[in-house]
Amino acid sequence: MGKEEIKKNYLEKIKKFRHYNQNYYDKNKSLVADAEFDNLKVEILDLEKKYKFLKNPYSPSSSVGFKPSKNFQKIKHKVPMLSLGNAFIEQDLLNFEKRILNFISQKENFEIFYSAEPKIDGISASLIYKNGKFISGLSRGDGKEGEDITTNLATIKDIPKKILSKDFPEEIDIRGEVFIQNSDFEVLKEKFANPRNAASGSLRQKNPEDTKKIPLKFIAYTFGFEKGLKVGNQFEFLKKLNEWGFKTNPMNKLINGVKNLMINYYEIEKKRTQLNFDIDGIVYKINNFQLQKRLGNVANAPRWAIAHKFASNKAISKILGIEIQIGRTGALTPVAKIKPISIGGVLVSNATLHNEDEINRKDIRVGDIVTVERAGDVIPHILSVDVKKRSKNSSKFLFPNKCPSCGSKTIKEFNEITKKNDAVRRCTSEGYECKKIAIEKLKHFVSKEAFNIEGFGKKIVENFWKLKLIKLPQDIFLLDFKKIEKMEGWGKQSVANLKYSIEQKKNISLEKFIYSLGIRHIGLENAKLLSKYFKSFSNLKELSKNNKYNELLNIDGIGETQVNSVKNFFNNKANLNVIEKLQKILTIKDSLFQKKNGLLKNQTFLLTGKLNGISRVEAKSLIEENSGSTISTVSKKLDYLIVGEKPTKRKVETAKELKISILDQNQFLKMLNKTS
Ligand code: IVH
Repeated sequence: MGKEEIKKNYLEKIKKFRHYNQNYYDKNKSLVADAEFDNLKVEILDLEKKYKFLKNPYSPSSSVGFKPSKNFQKIKHKVPMLSLGNAFIEQDLLNFEKRILNFISQKENFEIFYSAEPKIDGISASLIYKNGKFISGLSRGDGKEGEDITTNLATIKDIPKKILSKDFPEEIDIRGEVFIQNSDFEVLKEKFANPRNAASGSLRQKNPEDTKKIPLKFIAYTFGFEKGLKVGNQFEFLKKLNEWGFKTNPMNKLINGVKNLMINYYEIEKKRTQLNFDIDGIVYKINNFQLQKRLGNVANAPRWAIAHKFASNKAISKILGIEIQIGRTGALTPVAKIKPISIGGVLVSNATLHNEDEINRKDIRVGDIVTVERAGDVIPHILSVDVKKRSKNSSKFLFPNKCPSCGSKTIKEFNEITKKNDAVRRCTSEGYECKKIAIEKLKHFVSKEAFNIEGFGKKIVENFWKLKLIKLPQDIFLLDFKKIEKMEGWGKQSVANLKYSIEQKKNISLEKFIYSLGIRHIGLENAKLLSKYFKSFSNLKELSKNNKYNELLNIDGIGETQVNSVKNFFNNKANLNVIEKLQKILTIKDSLFQKKNGLLKNQTFLLTGKLNGISRVEAKSLIEENSGSTISTVSKKLDYLIVGEKPTKRKVETAKELKISILDQNQFLKMLNKTS
């Protein structure tokens, strides 16, 4: 079919779609069954996916007037807006509680009270109040920086603009969820895939008058920065929110122990379908604020809260094909292309098959009728195959032993730790030599948690790659902007913006830089650990020069898997070349993790044995918060050995031999001015 013909066919479908839509809205008439209507939508979307030149303002894909605007000002949150870890089954909750008890060094009989709050699936917002007046409102953004959406938020009736209560704090960021009720969503169905998209789209309208037309609701549940808040626990805080004029979830409950959390979970899950808003789980927060504070955060989620997600939605569909995707680390991931089907309000056409072993284990074949599951925001996956419905001439799926992108051999690595072959098959190319891997590496490099170059998304990476504008990470900083300016879809202003965003990111923290390199097994948390330990990039490079990788094992949290991966990374010439080029272009800031002049400045510690009422992790945090550092062996580098109950004898003896100061718990706490 020629381009013209494709376009003609597409426009006919759009015309039909508009016709059905108009009848539905203006005349309240359904001309076709829902399924047929959905089918038409899918056909249009498929065509657009296949032929990038197809576009139309009336297409179901087009969110005309609801596109997120770039015009909102970015503002830093005074206190970051964190996300939550997930739990799915009772064991996850038991582990969560156990981690907490370990951290605060308490036994199982210690009773923990939780505020259990149904988790509304909307958009979170932070409302800043000063002296009882609503001053401004921000979206979550990346958690650190949000968009100023004050005028749009101000149109929401549930948000009090003035609070006169005497006990309302002098300053406070009230946080909660903006959402749309299912009954209100009915009339917006055509424009948005689900209520959540509708809430997000309307919150970010350029014109607040447009936001006003959509009945948004707000439920409050936490706070960020505060001055003058006189409340000691979450449940009391929720009560206060009500008194101050905010809406809170009427199903919030104060519950103790995992058993009771489970009872409440099943009760709410049963009620779920009758509610007028979507909930995707229950948030549990340790009720006591003091305890919350003591527990603190890990990476970007609090230790004291977790989201208990509801079981997924399932549907039956057919596998149309199996595609092999190649990831940043060379992993070959099979993806099933399935006959599009709506699961829980979202149209699903892809399902992950995880890896080669999974396909073999479940004997998944093209043409199979399968049950697909979609749980929360996780990528849908195949739950089971209906073997009875399989056609006689179906054949087993053969996993490619050559990389579909570059033709290199694919292998399953032997894992030294599990003493088994990995379940994942990988492309053996050097990395940047394989087109698909290189593109994925570049996407990772510019991604939010890494360089976070505004306006440089995945699509641009793909596009620039195709046009041979970028091949390696350093090319991003050496772009030919004159050439881009002449390209379709680009103009002087957009190129100037891009140039500016790239320029800005030449100054980067060590932690982000390490993460952006995309070293296997070095995610955000490990990148943080490495940057904390090495302080500067040259120190890390030194290690590779001297081949002293085992030193990495000194870092609490870094194991053999990570060490091997770092070693492999630095032994690869292509990687070294990229690093060298980047170092010339960038300013990599030394890590400034520790308080510069804390009480334990320049001192190293090692803990042996059990402390009373303080866990290992907490002791380590305490040391680091006060500018000290911890090491894991007794050597001349050690300044203090902290000895708890049942210490390792050898450590104590070696410390004595080396004349290292030995502290008991009290002496240690005294150093921090914290004696009990
Ligand atoms: S507390 C400090 N409470 O869940 C932890 N969040 O995955 C984070 N959410 O971005 C906020 N109901 O959009 C909290 N009662 C509730 C919530 C809730 C829904 C959302 C919120 C947040 C996400 C975290």
